[in-house]
Amino acid sequence: MPDYNWFEGIAFPAIGFQKEVVEDVRNKFVLKEEDLIILTYPKSGTNWLIEIVCLIQTKGDPTWIQSVPIWERAPWIETDIGYPVLKHKEGPRLMSSHLPIHLFPKSLFSSKAKAIYLIRNPRDVLVSGYFFWGKTSLVKNPESMGTYFEWFLKGNVLYGSWFEHIRGWLSMREGDNFLVLYYEEMQKDTKGTIKKICDFLGKKLDPDELDLVLKYSSFKVMKENNMSNFSTIDQDLFPNGLNLLRKDSRKISFIVSGDLPCQHYLEDSIIQVGTTGDWRNHFTVAQAEAFDKIFQEKMAGFPPGMFPWN
Ligand code: A3P
Repeated sequence: MPDYNWFEGIAFPAIGFQKEVVEDVRNKFVLKEEDLIILTYPKSGTNWLIEIVCLIQTKGDPTWIQSVPIWERAPWIETDIGYPVLKHKEGPRLMSSHLPIHLFPKSLFSSKAKAIYLIRNPRDVLVSGYFFWGKTSLVKNPESMGTYFEWFLKGNVLYGSWFEHIRGWLSMREGDNFLVLYYEEMQKDTKGTIKKICDFLGKKLDPDELDLVLKYSSFKVMKENNMSNFSTIDQDLFPNGLNLLRKDSRKISFIVSGDLPCQHYLEDSIIQVGTTGDWRNHFTVAQAEAFDKIFQEKMAGFPPGMFPWN
């Protein structure tokens, strides 16, 4: 069973990442002021945000999102594949990253590049990650939710501790070039969030164009878009029976992860379609209480109301 690729105490997937690349990215990658970076902790809605940003750039025209795979539209800066592509790319670059702030290219801190940081309730991130990673050959399989719950709280999961990731990146939140978004707010008011992103990027879209962005980034449409639903990804990465044609599966969960997404089929009878609060279906009372306690401790100092799920 593959383990992680470790770099300075942070776990990376076993495939597609090299320490040398991660190190180079931090020390040598030069951001340009016209660049746009999409930042997230894994399973926070990264691909949804990428789709929205791509559609804003084309004013709702779906040609780009329907002809170029999502991982090529916004390459992953820290991956073996994404780094060289981005390094040699001319003009404004759209890129994605799950890196914690201390591993991110240092050039960001003296650059005018814009970054959007998307945050999701860590309880839902945990559940989403548990179902997603267990289906891939990229990481150690946790075998049970209880085990993954322990790993997550200790930060022994991909990209390290959620709490440290959020704390680190939120230190940038007062910056003019840094926009913080929440998955829960995107769900509640998707159009409002799209407008917020447009304002941040200085893009003016008319009402019809906004409606097109909304339409083509909807869960239903994204699920059907082969350039965004990862149906073309290498199936070797999903050896644990990720059979997209499984007939006994009554429900489908469309789970995409920035790096290596997939369509994920659940055995149970709940459609997990990018919802909020699904953790309630999976945590025991004791786990919910333990999580609350750790959350209070680790996120102490942030203003009340900082996180919309509270
Ligand atoms: P669930 O696993 O809770 O369903 P990421 O892209 O960072 O890997 O995040 C994956 C999560 O985003 C998944 O959550 C997935 O369902 C959700 N998601 C993907 N596309 C979405 C969309 N268009 N609308 C809402 N949620 C979406």
